[in-house]
Amino acid sequence: MDYRPIGIFDSGYGGLTVLREVAALLPEYDYLYLGDNARSPYGTRSFASVYTYTKECVFELFNKGCPLVILACNTASAKALRSIQQKDLPKMDPKLRVLGVIRPTAEVIGNYSSSRKVGVLGTSGTVVSESYPMEIAKTFPSVKVHQQACPMWVPLIENDEHNGPGADYFVKEYVDQLLEKDPEIDTILLGCTHYPLLADKIRKYVPDHVKILSQGEIVAESLKDYLHRHPEMEQTLSKGGSRRFLTTDDTSAFDAHGSTFFGSDIRSEHCVIDHLG
Ligand code: DGL
Repeated sequence: MDYRPIGIFDSGYGGLTVLREVAALLPEYDYLYLGDNARSPYGTRSFASVYTYTKECVFELFNKGCPLVILACNTASAKALRSIQQKDLPKMDPKLRVLGVIRPTAEVIGNYSSSRKVGVLGTSGTVVSESYPMEIAKTFPSVKVHQQACPMWVPLIENDEHNGPGADYFVKEYVDQLLEKDPEIDTILLGCTHYPLLADKIRKYVPDHVKILSQGEIVAESLKDYLHRHPEMEQTLSKGGSRRFLTTDDTSAFDAHGSTFFGSDIRSEHCVIDHLG
């Protein structure tokens, strides 16, 4: 059978926390991961840059045989997904699909909250886009969403400083700022696929009764449901159980660092992206 993997894209390493859960729930499929480490982080970049970079990476994954690409990056889902779906996909093979991580998360988050007060921690780009408040309101109109941008967290994680004592300062600062917005928040979403690596530190600064949600398992369940509802896509995907990793930057750094996110060893390949001009 042809190689028709599920493409998983992130600006860097964060999407590996999603791939880890998706591949655990749906192990039979082939997966092709692309991290745009050479241009990460995306979180502080403009809409135009995030759209252009994300589109280039999605096209690369299509060219490599993926019929379905998951944007395992909230920033890209917030700033690029809609344009790609509405402007670019209609000009391409009608069978190709791109899915994001914000909608599946927004569709379940209200189920975790009793107080109907939810906090979202994300990159500046995700917060400014207002994607979470808008998407959550569609399914849970009574839930009040408070957001906090955490611009220092991705650089700490990408530079392997997230376990060090310096990280505590920035973790406490942003968590305190979020909880000050509303002390009744009882559910906090880690709305950036990098943040699960800070989950233990975040837990230290959040009251015990507050739930902290990561997206990996939510996205995995949602993909399972999507494939069940779309047999025409499910039957197109190859099922060799392989995992391949591509990075636009240095492969040895990706292998060393990416394994922390993925939870097991990684051997990546370098990928040169076609710039679309
Ligand atoms: N992992 C990405 C997200 O979920 C953000 C990382 C970045 O800033 O590039 O938003």
